[in-house]
Amino acid sequence: MLKLLITRPIADPVLDQARRLFDVTVHTKGAMSEKDCADALATYDAILPTLGNPFTRDVFAGDIRCKMLGNFGVGYNHIDTQAAAAAGVIVSNTPDVLTDATADIALTLLLATARRAGEGERLVRSGAWGGFDGKGLMGTHVTGKTLGVIGMGRIGQAIAARCHYGFGMDVVFHNRSPKVTTVPATQLDSLHAVMAAADFVVVATPGGADTTKLIDADALAQMKPSGIFINISRGEVVDETALIDALEAGQITGAGLDVYENEPHVPARLRALENCVLLPHLGSATDETRQAMAQMALDNIIAWSEGRDPPQRVN
Ligand code: GLV
Repeated sequence: MLKLLITRPIADPVLDQARRLFDVTVHTKGAMSEKDCADALATYDAILPTLGNPFTRDVFAGDIRCKMLGNFGVGYNHIDTQAAAAAGVIVSNTPDVLTDATADIALTLLLATARRAGEGERLVRSGAWGGFDGKGLMGTHVTGKTLGVIGMGRIGQAIAARCHYGFGMDVVFHNRSPKVTTVPATQLDSLHAVMAAADFVVVATPGGADTTKLIDADALAQMKPSGIFINISRGEVVDETALIDALEAGQITGAGLDVYENEPHVPARLRALENCVLLPHLGSATDETRQAMAQMALDNIIAWSEGRDPPQRVN
């Protein structure tokens, strides 16, 4: 039987199927180091890894038994796919199945930040709420405002659809290549133009070298003082220190974040800010979505094990 390592527990029905087909080990000790990843490549025929497992260039330099990484997640910026290919390791991901859940978390953050739901929740739980207040915790109106999407891929378009059809918002966007969308939306000439035009900026690009610190202090400086910034993609796309500076200085009104530069570390300065809603990378975290992701990751590994090309192969 082929040896398969699963680096985080997955949905039981998918795990049961994996156990019927492979000699399965589940890594239950939390984070994996580069050494753990290198050891895994030397020990297993296939791996079902996930976010945060550092399959870096160096990790592919040692002895390699593994031929297949069926990643659990659409983003694979934690895997050096070129180094993997050079070492004869196929990599696949899990697109589409998490588009709706991730777009929903963007809207959760957008509404919660605009309407100061985090602050309100903390107030009620503290026992200090003094009753309905005609001028208390005033938020920002959402309906009819302008949404700016940075990265108009599948998830960006799902966010645009929710905002346009659900909240009557105009949509402008920045995308590195020209994009025709089914949702009414205008592609602007530059990232800065979108940052300046939008009331709500939502980042939905992939991570990786091409987008690292795409949102820097200059980009943030284009935003309206009333602007709200949302990131559901990867923390590395944003210069986190520049964002904290902008929030502390009141240069923008608020931020809703699902992702951070060095997860699970969230800087104390960010955690201290009342005008931020901070989630622990929940984009795809519904039972249905996580099970579909696990199934897709396993299906790719099964395809490889049967000599077929994995359908969601990325390298
Ligand atoms: C989640 O962030 C994913 O990439 O699937």
